[in-house]
Amino acid sequence: MGDKRRFDAFARFIVERFPAPRIYDVAGGMGKLNLALTQLGRSVVTFDRKPKKLDVKFEERRFTLEEPAGCDLVVGLHSDGATRVIVEYAAKNKLPFAVVPCCSDNGMSYKPWVRHLVALAQEKGFARVEEHDLAIEGRARVVAGWP
Ligand SMILES: C[S@@+](CC[C@H](N)C(=O)[O-])C[C@H]1O[C@@H](n2cnc3c(N)ncnc32)[C@H](O)[C@@H]1O
Repeated sequence: MGDKRRFDAFARFIVERFPAPRIYDVAGGMGKLNLALTQLGRSVVTFDRKPKKLDVKFEERRFTLEEPAGCDLVVGLHSDGATRVIVEYAAKNKLPFAVVPCCSDNGMSYKPWVRHLVALAQEKGFARVEEHDLAIEGRARVVAGWP
């Protein structure tokens, strides 16, 4: 079980660094990050393969590179197998992104997976790629990129 403070901590991180009014929350699970960002004034759509649980804007499907770009920022919190596609989607659509990686999609352990995502973003041509740590327990590293 992850630190329950992660939703508010990541929402504050996002609002402090990205002026984006419309946000895609990919692999957002129940929609708790959506709720936290909505309370901070952002318009958020959560994508998850699992059924909707909270009263938030929600698309119950797998997020892919083919999703139409109707946002100004794409984010993922412990987004597991969707983390790579968030970076690739942001690159394809020239959007900023912020992810808090958790499990990898290729068998890598945590630290190499984070380094791999930073390298992927750099290869994809993001002008700025940064890492930050949220003030939470467990997997707290944010990888963020600006086109
Ligand atoms: C570890 S959970 C994290 C959920 C939530 N963000 C949180 O922090 O509690 C990972 C979620 O990713 C979703 N997921 C994985 N790949 C996905 C994809 N390509 N598109 C949409 N959802 C995906 C799963 O259904 C699961 O709900």
